[in-house]
Amino acid sequence: MSQNPASVYDAEPIPAEARAEIDEMLQSGDLFRYTAPENAPVTLLEREFASLLGSKYALAVSSCSAALFLSLKALGLPRDARVLLPGFTFAAVPSSVVHADCVPVLCEVADNYRIDIADFTSKLDDNISAVIISHMRGHTSDMDAIMRLCNARNIPVVEDAAHSLGTTWHGENIGTLGKVGCFSFQSYKMINAGEGGVLVTDDPEVVAQAVIMSGAYEHNWRKHMPVGDNSSALEKAFARWQNKLPLYNLRMSNLSAAVIRPQLPHLARRVRDGLKNHDYVAALLAQCPWISVPDKLAAEQRAPDSIQFNLVGMSDDETLAFAQAAAEHGVKVQVFGLSQDNARAFWNWEFLPEGIPDLPQTRSMLSRACDTRLPVRLTQRELDNIANAIIQAAQDVKGSFAKAV
Ligand SMILES: Cc1ncc(COP(=O)(O)O)c(C=O)c1O
Repeated sequence: MSQNPASVYDAEPIPAEARAEIDEMLQSGDLFRYTAPENAPVTLLEREFASLLGSKYALAVSSCSAALFLSLKALGLPRDARVLLPGFTFAAVPSSVVHADCVPVLCEVADNYRIDIADFTSKLDDNISAVIISHMRGHTSDMDAIMRLCNARNIPVVEDAAHSLGTTWHGENIGTLGKVGCFSFQSYKMINAGEGGVLVTDDPEVVAQAVIMSGAYEHNWRKHMPVGDNSSALEKAFARWQNKLPLYNLRMSNLSAAVIRPQLPHLARRVRDGLKNHDYVAALLAQCPWISVPDKLAAEQRAPDSIQFNLVGMSDDETLAFAQAAAEHGVKVQVFGLSQDNARAFWNWEFLPEGIPDLPQTRSMLSRACDTRLPVRLTQRELDNIANAIIQAAQDVKGSFAKAV
């Protein structure tokens, strides 16, 4: 069988309302966030996003990686400060630490794609100055344990919520549990602007520094003052940092904001559909004895736009044959640890200043962990086709099995 069960790379169309605003901008040429005296699309997006998440402040920037970098810089970490993060994340995350002149320290990740709390605890020593929690592919690590451990040591937590927009933990939005939360608007995320990112925080010192370093030169920071905010904490913070910080110019353009804003009202529906699609495919895959889909944690309500599963009882050669068979059945499955130069395999991060660490548990998980996109717009028929193609690929390699009726 060779067919195309569903394109997993087609995004949902951008809502039509974006067109009118973009047309107007093309006419006026007003694409820069700081030209208008007030209410530029980027400013409105920041207000809407902060209110959606329940955060005091939001800063829209060019990418989630930029948001992570600015978060670390705004924490005022000294050169060579050590930042603890999971060994399973995207290469841009340790890269943001290196950009900030800090040193990434990696901890083990378990078979369920979440941080191994025992290893995290043992590495959270006096030499760690900050923590980045990558909720990789939207899988939330045990934030109760992580926040308790970090609060006890007064270590700031930056949440890399690139894939977690709409995910909650005990009902609270992921990205609002740590000191700063960073989100991505890159195409393969819940909200798609091609590129883009945003950080949220309740801390005026952090946001004031991040705003200035993102490129709010001269007194453009005034355009970040919340409407009707007469409390002076934020204004004082801006005044204190005036002219003191380098400008990295990682701003978002009005065009991106115009693409993002009309998608915000669709988020709740996308989260609902994404979860329904994921759980439907997960239940089908769970029937196959060579596939296991790890459970979520109890406190977590997920918002997936992709599915991850582990192959069971397959050798490396069989795992590669499985990925090849899935492609022949029309579904692209990446095995994080077996595709060449994969950016999510820590042993490919040759830029790490202290070399590649030894993380046997994470390495073994990555060599059987599979990843398939599952955009929220898929129909049930397409979901059936995708699940069948994956199961058929496993059967091609391991032989058929009797399905439970
Ligand atoms: C876990 C994770 N964090 C951060 C990023 C970076 O996001 P961006 O492409 O917006 O910089 C990505 C990119 O996909 C990611 O997968």
